[in-house]
Amino acid sequence: MKIVMLGAPGAGKGTQAKMISEKYGIPHISTGDIFRANIKENTELGQKAKGYMDKGLLVPDELVVDLVVDRLAQDDAKKGYVLDGFPRTIPQAEALTDALAKIGEKLDYAIDVDVPDENIVTRMSGRRACVKCGGTYHVKYNPTKTEGICDACGGELILRDDDKPETVQQRLSVYHEQTQPLIDYYTKEGILKEVDGTVDLNDVFAAIVTILEK
Ligand code: AP5
Ligand code: MG
Repeated sequence: MKIVMLGAPGAGKGTQAKMISEKYGIPHISTGDIFRANIKENTELGQKAKGYMDKGLLVPDELVVDLVVDRLAQDDAKKGYVLDGFPRTIPQAEALTDALAKIGEKLDYAIDVDVPDENIVTRMSGRRACVKCGGTYHVKYNPTKTEGICDACGGELILRDDDKPETVQQRLSVYHEQTQPLIDYYTKEGILKEVDGTVDLNDVFAAIVTILEK
């Protein structure tokens, strides 16, 4: 099962991708998480990505595409994966389609988690993220058992640098300009599925499971 998650920043892509990954035993591959781990380790890639991310801009395509194509070639991705935060430009989507075509594969689903901009800013201010495993929580909508500690791996939770309201606004406009066109792209490919992302996160997940098990 090869899945791409689409949706605005804060729509719940990471939350749902993690649930899909656990239920179906396929890896959750988040480019945002990969960049944040590299920033934490202060790698060359992390240093390059940080400037763009802190401003709410996209990291250039050339820094992202090879990274994902290499990741998809690893053994654990053989039976499928859920991609979260990639692709997010038309050139990235085309590069992915081409890379998969070369090995005779294609995506099965592009799931768009739909949440209007008005809901996003409040969601982001309450978000807490685990840098170690990519777990995502919310102080009100999805709290951890122990404050500041990831339920899944015991890692420390952080507030993301790009979750300040002004940066969130910038990320939303970048989303509408550069990523929203992917909805048309995957509609034309015949694999787009929409879910309402404004309802409780367990209900969003139930809607996704219905799509995947049809
Ligand atoms: P990335 O990490 O991908 O961030 P994003 O797309 O902005 O999305 P978020 O992770 O902020 O939101 P999400 O949809 O995962 O929501 P979440 O589940 O956390 O990218 C960060 C940056 O990296 C980019 O800006 C860019 O610079 C760079 N980058 C990454 N990939 C790139 C690429 N391919 N090309 C170029 N640059 C790239 O949920 C949000 C909050 O809401 C949480 O607190 C959660 O608990 C809560 N929540 C979730 N669902 C619900 C619900 N149904 N009801 C109530 N609360 C909910
Ligand atoms: Mg995310």
